[in-house]
Amino acid sequence: MLPISITLSEHLKEKPQDESKLGFGRIFTDHMFIMDYDPENGWHDARIVPYQNFSMDPASVVIHYGQAIFEGSKCYRTADGSLQLFRPSANFARMTRSAERMGMPALDEETALEGLKQLIRVEADWVPHQEGTSLYIRPTMISTDVQLGVHASKTYRFFIILSPVGSYYKNGLQPVSIYVEDKYVRAVRGGTGFTKCAGNYAASILAGEIAEKKGYSQVLWLDGVEQKYVEEVGSMNMMFAYGNKIVTPMLNGSILPGITRDSILTLARQLGYETEEKRIAISDVFADGHAGKLTEAFGTGTAAVISPVGELLMEDDKLIFQDGKIGPVAQKLYDTLTGIQYGRLPDENHWIVKI
Ligand code: COI
Repeated sequence: MLPISITLSEHLKEKPQDESKLGFGRIFTDHMFIMDYDPENGWHDARIVPYQNFSMDPASVVIHYGQAIFEGSKCYRTADGSLQLFRPSANFARMTRSAERMGMPALDEETALEGLKQLIRVEADWVPHQEGTSLYIRPTMISTDVQLGVHASKTYRFFIILSPVGSYYKNGLQPVSIYVEDKYVRAVRGGTGFTKCAGNYAASILAGEIAEKKGYSQVLWLDGVEQKYVEEVGSMNMMFAYGNKIVTPMLNGSILPGITRDSILTLARQLGYETEEKRIAISDVFADGHAGKLTEAFGTGTAAVISPVGELLMEDDKLIFQDGKIGPVAQKLYDTLTGIQYGRLPDENHWIVKI
């Protein structure tokens, strides 16, 4: 593990007064973690420094060819005031898998985890207190070579920034409306769908904007080949409840292997729900929904936690779940997951890392 230097900021920002208005990802803390990579030195110069702008050459590879990957994780404040992370090593391991696909170097996961812990200790006062709030963690890796040839960069920067957040969606745990996207696709097999690369999100923005104009929070992506099968929402994986059975799209290379997805599947089984990962035709979702067999739909993600779907629209076919309210399965899983994250329930799976 690399040694980590700490330079404290001389000008601390004012912390948000009203934690009910934090929203998502608009406020950033006083410090950040950085380490750099080059082929001679590997990862080096691990440091915590005041939050700052980067100066970049306009010909930097990341700007033109998008060699950029990121992660999302959270730090929670428990009732006794202690701070805890949820499965942070799973995020760093996934970043290394994303890096491999994007021709980027494997992350020094050990230094990244230690850097994160030290950064959180420096920023402890930024972890909000109110129920449902947390300190969102955004680890990111970008390429920094200056060249216009389409080649992998030789140099990279890894950094972690922190943002106190409330709920990702405006209405908190209120169900969201989702629009089934049948024109654009997010990813194809063999592509980068399973990575958390910036380009996946860039490709999703137009469809998201169109959906928002129609009054929908997000789009549900279908597979990139036949446009028949459910993939993911982009900011979350999708799950469907048939009474006590939970069904979710199997990991096929084009959807993100969500850490919340994995945690929810594990918790669901431990709570006695049956789970199945399979290819899910969108036509079956609508048929089963109208027939009353499919009782709930919800998304899972670090930012979104568990987000019940109140309405699903495909062309002019509309499905309403649970009268537009949260259903019992989503509520139970939300209570269990957040209970562990906020230290109210025992952590039987050893997912919590105390700061
Ligand atoms: C997360 O859930 O942390 C994400 O990265 C999704 C999104 C906000 C891009």
